[in-house]
Amino acid sequence: MNENGLNEKEVLSLLNKAKSNDLQYNHVLSSMCTYPHEIAVKAHVKFIESNMGDFGLFQGTYNMEQEIIKMLGNMLHCSTVNGYLTTGGTESNIQAIRSMRNSHIVNDPNIVVPESAHFSFDKIADILNIKVKKADIDDELKVCLDSVESLIDDNTVGLVGIAGSTEFGQVDPISDLSKIAVDNNLFLHIDAAFGGFVLPFLPKSEQFDFSLTGVSSLAIDPHKMGLSTIPSGVLLFRDMEDLIHLKADTPYLTIDTQYTLTGTRSGATVAATYAVMKHLGNEGYRKIVSRSMHLTDYFVKSVKEIGIYPVIDPIMNVIALDVPEPAKLRSKLSKEYNWQVSIAQKPAALRIVMMPHMDFETIDLFVGDLQKALDEI
Ligand SMILES: Cc1ncc(COP(=O)(O)O)c(C=O)c1O
Repeated sequence: MNENGLNEKEVLSLLNKAKSNDLQYNHVLSSMCTYPHEIAVKAHVKFIESNMGDFGLFQGTYNMEQEIIKMLGNMLHCSTVNGYLTTGGTESNIQAIRSMRNSHIVNDPNIVVPESAHFSFDKIADILNIKVKKADIDDELKVCLDSVESLIDDNTVGLVGIAGSTEFGQVDPISDLSKIAVDNNLFLHIDAAFGGFVLPFLPKSEQFDFSLTGVSSLAIDPHKMGLSTIPSGVLLFRDMEDLIHLKADTPYLTIDTQYTLTGTRSGATVAATYAVMKHLGNEGYRKIVSRSMHLTDYFVKSVKEIGIYPVIDPIMNVIALDVPEPAKLRSKLSKEYNWQVSIAQKPAALRIVMMPHMDFETIDLFVGDLQKALDEI
């Protein structure tokens, strides 16, 4: 740090310089985040000092958090829902598994997750000292139920299903997983970090939420398709008892207990999430999802015209393309054509996420460059 501070103009000039080195989302087809809705940004700034780690001081923000939980409970079919705003899917997944582990004490605990699970489950294995068993994936890239059942043993404390896998946007057979969870008396956590704000707004989708009796908890991220500000995730539990497994005493605060992983916690993202959900309503999200799906369909049609096909027909706005040498192609598209795409691992594919910041013209430009890049490798 300098001995003497810079004036505001000098600091802003440093910020502008830093910003100019950030990519704008318009050439980003790899991210599950996007520009937050304007009203979310306004609300975020308005509540910038609010600390939900000591929400006794910020009762107004706390009331908004409770209403978000209620609105999501309604959307995801659970009248008894409890939960809180996390920093995103990773924290929600960590806390859900921590609750499973704490409610089902065994010597050497394990969980069964689909092989397609997000890498946050590898972090969970390390942080919680729990074995993460990975069940096989079928040709449609959904978890194989036989594989899940074969991995359950006396030390299994819970199961995980994915509603919107990171790499393929696929939805596991959650209703079957729910039956397996009920039959084996196991906790079932649904990772709907991405799909949670997509599936309820599609014209038709499989059941994936608390309408299935075996589903105990669910992760959903407002900072992805919810158009809130980063970092906004939500962890929801069907039963208060499962939240209580996360309880810590907080002797010096205005509140007696916390159920959260972090201590100090942003109230700004609570305000942002509340504002955007109130502003858009179901109708607004339906429009956003519908536009993203139109872009997805248009993209798939355009790549098929140049002889490229998706690995599976997209369920949501995530597309994995079957291309030769995906890693090399990704690097070429980034270095020579200024496009950010990502890759899926198994099967190897070029992964595209069609977020609301995309448009039809940009898709045309991208597909043109994709064709050139393919000719060159
Ligand atoms: C299905 C799924 N779960 C969890 C996460 C982790 O979310 P975050 O990066 O917000 O912690 C992601 C991120 O893309 C995801 O796609």
